[in-house]
Formats: sequence, structure tokens, C-alpha cells
Amino acid sequence: MTQKVALITGSSRGIGKATALRLAEAGYDIVINYARSKKGALETAEQVEALGRKAFIIKANVGDVAKIKDMFAQIEQEFGRLDIFVNNAASGVQRPVMELEESHWDWTLNINSKALLFCAQEAAKLMEINGGGKIVSISSLGSIRYLENYTVVGVSKAALEALTRYLAVELAPKNIIVNAVSGGAVDTEALKHFPNREELLQEAKDKTPAGRMVEIDDMVNTVMFLLSDDSSMIRGQTIIVDGGISLLV
Ligand SMILES: NC(=O)c1ccc[n+]([C@@H]2O[C@H](COP(=O)([O-])OP(=O)(O)OC[C@H]3O[C@@H](n4cnc5c(N)ncnc54)[C@H](OP(=O)(O)O)[C@@H]3O)[C@@H](O)[C@H]2O)c1
Repeated sequence: MTQKVALITGSSRGIGKATALRLAEAGYDIVINYARSKKGALETAEQVEALGRKAFIIKANVGDVAKIKDMFAQIEQEFGRLDIFVNNAASGVQRPVMELEESHWDWTLNINSKALLFCAQEAAKLMEINGGGKIVSISSLGSIRYLENYTVVGVSKAALEALTRYLAVELAPKNIIVNAVSGGAVDTEALKHFPNREELLQEAKDKTPAGRMVEIDDMVNTVMFLLSDDSSMIRGQTIIVDGGISLLV
């Protein structure tokens, strides 16, 4: 029971998958979560196992609280503990304000915001068993800036960042450290759903003060820092990893 365990939601591809592999390299057994892409989840599992760690796949839509509870019950049964929870899974409807419907709001907020609260509650119960743990969520610049067609996702990420502050205070007595990492545009599959993908990528390439776009590894490096003992006095913060683009007007 000394083997540490990490759950990464949405780890069938993109930033979540890269985080899962980095945590496996760091010695954690990995709980891989996905909603639709079983093939991707199986590929992540294969790569985790090639690193000598255990991979446990759970299909669960994190926008559904009953599915969240079932996911954590499975983790408890399989491992009896949880040390790290990376709240990475996200979805969202990309529409201008006047085209948004109630179902778009509910879908996006359930997956991107509500999931953090109800996963964190369940994660905290498992983390307490071994004296604490760490939670990191992934956010985006739309939480604090205007991005075209991004209204509901931006609002959902603003809620996630606010919730990160509340969780950081109330879970601190359980020795659970809670933070978030917010990124500029990263060229993952997520961007395929953006109507203005090409424009967004070009702008990130041309305007980022650091001289290049943010890459998946830039995000994962910061997640790993927040999961390390070096950052234990950072609480409830959202660290922006954007090569400086949000500094421009
Ligand atoms: N790409 C960017 O430009 C960028 C920038 C800043 C922040 N971020 C954030 O980084 C995180 C990862 O983004 P990404 O670009 O790596 O996205 P991605 O490639 O689209 O991957 C999203 C992952 O989330 C999973 N997922 C989606 N809906 C889910 C649900 N309801 N329940 C469980 N899993 C679900 C997907 O699995 P299935 O395929 O099985 O649904 C997939 O594994 C997100 O929080 C995103 O907002 C991305």
C-alpha cells in the first residue's frame, strides 16, 4: 500500500495523456479517465505499462455526478488510495453569445466546473486515508480575457479558478494542496472544434512574446512543479503558461 496513485481526467489524449505519462515516469500508478475515445485510453494505458507502472482505465463522463461517484468507488476498490488528482477533462460549445442555448451552458459548466467540485470531494476522502494529496486543474486564458466564440468555456474556466481558491482553503487542513495551470493556445485535438482555429494558431505563432506557441510539455512542466514538494506554499493559484501573450492588449 505504499505505491502512489494519480488520477488524470481526460487522459486519452492531449495534455491529459502527456501528464499521465509524466506521472508514470515519476513512479505513480495511473488512473486513466475518458468519455468517448476508448482507443486513446488503451494507447495511454499501453504506454504507462511500458514505463513499468499500473494503468487502470475508467470510462466516465465527468459532467455526471453519479458517474464521478462510481469512478471514485472503482479507484477505492482497486487501489484503496489516491495521491494526485489532475482535473484536466474539458469540453464546450463554441458559439457567439446570441446563439447560446441553455443546453450549451449546462453541458459546458457541468464538465468544466461542476466536475471539479464533486471530483475534489471524492478525491479528498481518498487522499485523507494517507495524510493528504495534491489537486491541479487545467484552465485557459478565456477565464480572464475575451476570446471569440468562447463565452461558455471562458465562464466555466473562471468558475474552475474560483473553485480552486475555495478548495485550497477548505482542503488545507486535510493536507491537500490545490492549484491550477492556465494555458495559451496549444495545438491539440481540442482546437479542431474551434471555428477560428487557423486564425487562433497564427496569432499565437506571430504574437507570443516568447517567440513560439505554448506546447503540451510547457503545460505539463508547470503541472509537475505544482505537484512537487517545491511548490507546497503555493495555494489556490492559477499559474499562467502562455509565453506572455496575455500581457498584450
Ligand atoms: N488546447 C488548448 O489550446 C488548451 C489551452 C489551455 C487549456 N487547455 C485545457 O487543457 C485541458 C486538456 O485540453 P486538450 O487540449 O488536451 O484537449 P483534448 O485533446 O481535446 O483532450 C480532452 C480530453 O478530455 C476528455 N474528455 C472530454 N469530455 C470529457 C468528459 N465529459 N468526461 C471525461 N473526459 C472527457 C477527452 O476524452 P474523450 O475523447 O474520450 O471524450 C480527452 O481525453 C482542458 O482542460 C483544456 O481546456 C487547452
